[in-house]
Formats: sequence, C-alpha cells, structure tokens
Amino acid sequence: MQVATSSGKYSVKHYPDTIQSWKKEGNYFYFYTSATILEIRVISDKIVRFRYAADGQFQRDFSYALSEKLEESPENFDIREWQESFEIYTTAIRVFVARENLRITITDTEGRIINQDETGFHWQYYLQKGGKIVYCTKLIQEGEAFYGLGDKPTDLNLRGKRVENFGTDAYGYAKDTDPLYRNIPFYYGLHNGIGYGIFFDNTFRTLFDFGSEREDASSFWARGGEMNYYFIYGPELLKVAESYARITGTAELPPLWALGYHQCRWSYFPDSRVREIGKEFRQRGIPCDALYLDIDYMDGFRCFTWSPDGFPDPKKLLKDLSDDGFKTVVIIDPGIKVDPDYPIYQELVQKGYACKRADGALMEGDVWPGKCAFPDFTDPKVRDWWAGLFQDLTAYGVRGVWNDMNEPAVFELGTFPEDVRHDYDGENVSHRKAHNVYGHLMSKATAAGLKKHLMPRRPFVITRSAYSGTQRWSSVWTGDNMSTWEHLWLASVQCQRLSVSGLSFAGSDIGGFIGEPSGELYTRWIQLGAFHPLMRTHSASNDTGFDQEPWSFGPEYEAVVKSFIQLRYRLLPYIYTTFWQYAAYGTPMLRPLAFVAQDDPETHDLNHEFLLGDSILISHVSEAGMLEKSVYLPEGNWYYYFNDARYAGKQAVTIPTPLSEMPIFVKAGAVVPQYPDMEWVGQRKVEEMILQVYFGEGITHSILYEDAGDHYAYKTGQYNLVRFKQASEPGLFRLKKKFVGRFEADYRHHRLKIHGLPFRPTSCMVDGVAHELPAEALQAAIVEIQLPRNFEEIILR
Ligand code: GLC
Repeated sequence: MQVATSSGKYSVKHYPDTIQSWKKEGNYFYFYTSATILEIRVISDKIVRFRYAADGQFQRDFSYALSEKLEESPENFDIREWQESFEIYTTAIRVFVARENLRITITDTEGRIINQDETGFHWQYYLQKGGKIVYCTKLIQEGEAFYGLGDKPTDLNLRGKRVENFGTDAYGYAKDTDPLYRNIPFYYGLHNGIGYGIFFDNTFRTLFDFGSEREDASSFWARGGEMNYYFIYGPELLKVAESYARITGTAELPPLWALGYHQCRWSYFPDSRVREIGKEFRQRGIPCDALYLDIDYMDGFRCFTWSPDGFPDPKKLLKDLSDDGFKTVVIIDPGIKVDPDYPIYQELVQKGYACKRADGALMEGDVWPGKCAFPDFTDPKVRDWWAGLFQDLTAYGVRGVWNDMNEPAVFELGTFPEDVRHDYDGENVSHRKAHNVYGHLMSKATAAGLKKHLMPRRPFVITRSAYSGTQRWSSVWTGDNMSTWEHLWLASVQCQRLSVSGLSFAGSDIGGFIGEPSGELYTRWIQLGAFHPLMRTHSASNDTGFDQEPWSFGPEYEAVVKSFIQLRYRLLPYIYTTFWQYAAYGTPMLRPLAFVAQDDPETHDLNHEFLLGDSILISHVSEAGMLEKSVYLPEGNWYYYFNDARYAGKQAVTIPTPLSEMPIFVKAGAVVPQYPDMEWVGQRKVEEMILQVYFGEGITHSILYEDAGDHYAYKTGQYNLVRFKQASEPGLFRLKKKFVGRFEADYRHHRLKIHGLPFRPTSCMVDGVAHELPAEALQAAIVEIQLPRNFEEIILR
C-alpha cells in the first residue's frame, strides 16, 4: 500500500508475515517473523504489554511515564499452541497471536472478544526524518465507545474522532481544537459492558483515530519510536483507570490547603495589590487559601528573581499573607532570559545545561522576557540543578509553584524546532522525541526541588503541559480558555477527561482566562469549580483592567459565589477522602457517568454529569438564563442536595435551577463527612466532624480518610480510615462505623445529620445503649444527633 507522508513523498507500508519461531523467557514471550519481533510481557492477569521490533531491533526499553513502583504479578499464565494461533492465557484473559500475520485477538475467559486487531501492527520508514512511523489498527466492536486522552476539548466519547498528542500553547482554543497542552496517549474502549484500556507509551507525536477515517477501525500511531503499548482489561472502566495508575503512578496527597479555593490573576501587581486582595477575602468572609503571583512579580520576567519596584520585600509580604492564612504560589516558566548579567542564565550556559540546536548553537527563542535559553529537563543533571533553585523561593515563604509555557512555548516558532538536541537520560535525541515530555520533566524537577526545600511540608505544583505519569508530582489546569458558556461546558468535559486520564488533580480558569464573564457566567462557573479537584479563578485582565474576583459582579452574585466556596470548604473532608482514594488506588476523582454505570448505555454519551467521589453527582448549569435542567440519574436512589427530595435512578429528572442552586445529588445510603465553616485550612481547630447521612435501604459503604492535612506522618501510620456501613430497611435506620489508624484528630465528637428518614423514629440506640433524644429532634425533617467520636453503631426505629 502506498501512503503519503507529510512531505508528500511516498513510502511503502510494511506488515509482519508468518511466525517462524517463538520462545518464552519467564513472563516474556517472543514471536519471530522474517523481519519483525513481537514481545509480549505478562505484567498481571489483566495487564499485558505488546512491543514490536519492526525490523528485528528493539530500542532501549526506557520510559518517563512508568511508576518506579510498578510491580509485576504474573501468576498462572502460560502459552498454548493452536493450528492458527498461539494463545497466552492468564486467569482473566486470553491473548491470541495469529501465526499468519502476528495479529492479536484478546478475549475474556469466556471467549468474549475484548479487543481485536484489524490490520494490527504495521510501519513505514520515515525517510525524511529517520526512524519509522509505527501503527496499530484495531477493529471497532459493535456499539463501542472510547474515552480518555487527556484534555481534548470535545465530547467525552471519542467515537468518530481523530486526535493528536503534541503539546501546544493553544491560547484561546475552542471546542475541538487539537492538539492542546497535554500528551496522554491512553484511551479506554467500552462495548458490550466490557471496558479495557490501551496505553501507547511513545513520546513522539502520537495520533489516535476512533473510526473517523474508516467507520469500523480504530488506529493509533506515532511519528517515530516503537510500537509499545499496554493492554489493560477491566472489565470495569474504573478498574482500568486503577491499573493505568499502577503503570504510570499515583499522586501523593497534597497539602489540604491546596484543595481549598485559589485566587489568581495575570497579574496582581504590585505587592500592595496582593495585600488588598487578601484583605478583601478576609473582610468579606469568603474562604480562600492560595494567592498566586503571575509573571510580573519577577524582575524583568527573570525566573527566581523579584521585581525590586513591585515586590521590594517579598519575605515580609509572604509572611504577612501567611499570618492571614494565605499560601503563596508563584509562576516559574522554562524560558531563562538571555542576559549575561543574570546569574541563572550564566550558570545555565556555563554548565552546558541549555538546549542546543543540531549544530551546537543555543536554542534561543522569545518568550515573556524576550530572547531566552531553555534548560534541557531531559538531562538528570539539569533536573537536579533546577530543583536546587527553589531553595530561595521557599525560604521566602513560597508554598507552591506554577509551571507554565512548558509545551515548550516559543513566540515566533510555536515551539522548539525539531533539530533541537536533548539528553533524554543519556540517549541523545532530537526534539521530536523529547517534545511531549518537556513539561512533564520540568514539573518533575520543580516538584523535587519544592519537596526537598519545603520538607516537612508537602509541596504543591501546577503545570500546563504533561505526559502520562505527571500525576505523580503535579496538578494541572486546562490552560488559556475563554469567558464563554461554551468554555464552561469545555471545562466540565476537559476536567472529567483529565480525571480518567490519570490527572484527577485538575481545574479550569474559573470565569475564563480571556475575556470578561457576566456575573451569571462567573457564578455558574464557580458552582462547577467547587466540585473540581482544583478550584482556581484566573484571568488575563492586564489589558482591560476588569476584575475577576468573587465580589466583582455585585452583591447578588457575590452571595451565591460565597455560598459555593463555603460549601467547598465544608466538603473538604469528603474531597480529601476522594483524593486519598485517587492517591492510594488511582481511582479517578471525577467519574463520568459512563464510568459509574457502564452497563447502562444511556450514560455512554453523557458529557456534563459526573460523580465527584463515591456519592456526589453534579450536573452544572451550562446556559445563560437556564431555569431548569434535565439530569440523568444512574441506577440507585438519589437525594437532591438542596431539599432532600428523593429520586429513583435510571431516569432523567428535571430540576429547577435558580441562580443559588445547581443540580447536586447525593447517593442514598451515603455518609458525607463535612467540616464546620472555615475561611482557610488551619484557621482554627476542627471542633466536630459533621456526618451528613442519607437514608438508603440495603447495604451501603462509605469512607472517611483523615490525617494532619500536611507533612508526612501519615506515611508512618498517622492517619485514620473510617468505614461506615449503613444497613437500613423500612422502619429501621442502622449505621455502623469501624476505624483503623493512629491519627489524633482535634474533634471529639460527630454531629450526625440524617436525611430522608422515611419513618418517625421513637427510639435511638447507640452502641447498644438507649440514647435519650428530645421528641422534636427525632421528629425533625433532618434528625440531628451529637455522638462521641468513637461511637460504633447507631440504630433508630
Ligand atoms: C500563559 C498562561 C496563563 C498566564 C500567562 C502569563 O498564557 O497559560 O495562565 O497567566 O501565560 O504568565
């Protein structure tokens, strides 16, 4: 077959031929055709890696994505020979390799097809640039839906679309703009109730086609490197997500304050303005934890310096802010100003740490400071050096770092030219191979530096570009969006997509970065943002001078915005628990409904409904003037948050949407832990942990994870994992609580608020003893009971 390459030259596509021999080495299997070798590695019963040496030579087996902790657990696997194929089987799947052409068919143990090659692996020589373009083409199964792939600003289900990974500074992107900032070559397939994932660990430009070119075929390919992919069987999509995290790593717990509200702007300048913003928050009683300094805090945009006029005494400023409960996050870009008198530039060049062009000249390009040079973050020595640069910033009191422009962005060129050289941990490669990991490794070095210098505090890092695995050290935001209703919709799908792509700790610039939102749009965005793992307002207001703070749109909007930020703070124990699930198991924090109810086809194409954690369902208000919204509820029973009205699932319900409300539902049976009101994390001791309990028949489990919210004592057992089990039935409410851990929480008691009791209780038993309660309390719509922290069981009848 003749296919046009990007330069218009033609080159032949090559396909593997017949298997001539094979061998098994431990959990590795090798199949040899006349030119190609296929390596299959059984990592666990549900994870198998496929790697192809197109013409007989494997490349270095090296990856920036993989978790250092990736452990193999292959058990009870082996190979069987059939006339037409070889079959490698585990306790969960069977992998058939066709003798004739190396094509792969994967089934479950009952023989149901999970995933099947169409033409399978094939390649072309990339004559202009060197190496090969490597492809893999699969059959699309009946009714198959596709998810994943990072931050693509389009419908969650990618069926019918083609997308590409090549980190791009996509200022003012729109729906369907591609590529964007992130490079996450990982997708899910879902058909016939079966979910699986494919992680194509290749850092070159990668492309994915889900039936856009040909209706019944999906393909992924890369303009270089190896065909090297991990197949992950679910069948539950959430289990696929957890296995992907097993491969690419899990996040560490952030400091609790990082789950609070963040206020940012390009730029708060000078220091007096930052102080004013802080004062406004405290005077108005609007909770806020983080304040950001965008590029203008620096001296002429030189990283690791401070503007002598705008920020003459940063240490004092950060101390005063900190005394008032604010944590300061500063931006650090990769571009280092070319300035012979600037020590960081001198060191960068003298040590040979800057990226160079093919012929040895410095890679120079314009960014904010003008002409810049750029550290080669693919060199471990450079990462160490960079990490060391955070010593002074942290000594000044900086608590978090924001890495931007690291696709890498260059003004005239877009990004680096392809001939730029990179160390790539000793491999010495061109930018074609290093581009998609540049921001990944920059944020890695930043996080390492912050962690070291902030010790024993936990670091907070936010990055714009990312590769698979960035979740191990950084959060992300969706980039330079716009103040439009369409972008509010995008923020929702992008954060859900990031979440199932390993990057749960994500948020959007609330209100939009470019442009000016109306009060209504800003308020609706805050409502959605309150349920995103990262909640940050940011805007580029330098030119027009308008403000985008919670109080900027008048008292009517301010009141609603404040109530949602307060709700966010009350929900912190629930959100932190959800983060813990993500950190411990890789479970996505935001769960699109398709991931929660994959057997229900109604959910497969839903874009704007998701669960945050186990029990809270959100459907944000997505249009101006919207008076009501239809929300599809998955199986189970659901309480409308604002009035406790109960709805049965597996149907769409219509909910009025006054400005002060957004459709929020809580799953029947759930226990949602809450803090009392606070204006910032650490403001005062938490006197009681509120437990919002929603009556549900049958057995339901909920959890609460808690620790000090900072530092690392949790790693040596200073945490509590509280498990709740509700086992209620008509006429009986019963909640059990079990507890493991050694963390001494400040609070001594719980306040239970029981919603939706379908009967009027007359008696209350706690740990087997009658608990006297005034009759009014028992008869109230929400039964409120204070119990000691160590209660184990409560029964109402
Ligand atoms: C980029 C970032 C934006 C930031 C600006 C100035 O556009 O995406 O968030 O405010 O640069 O640093």
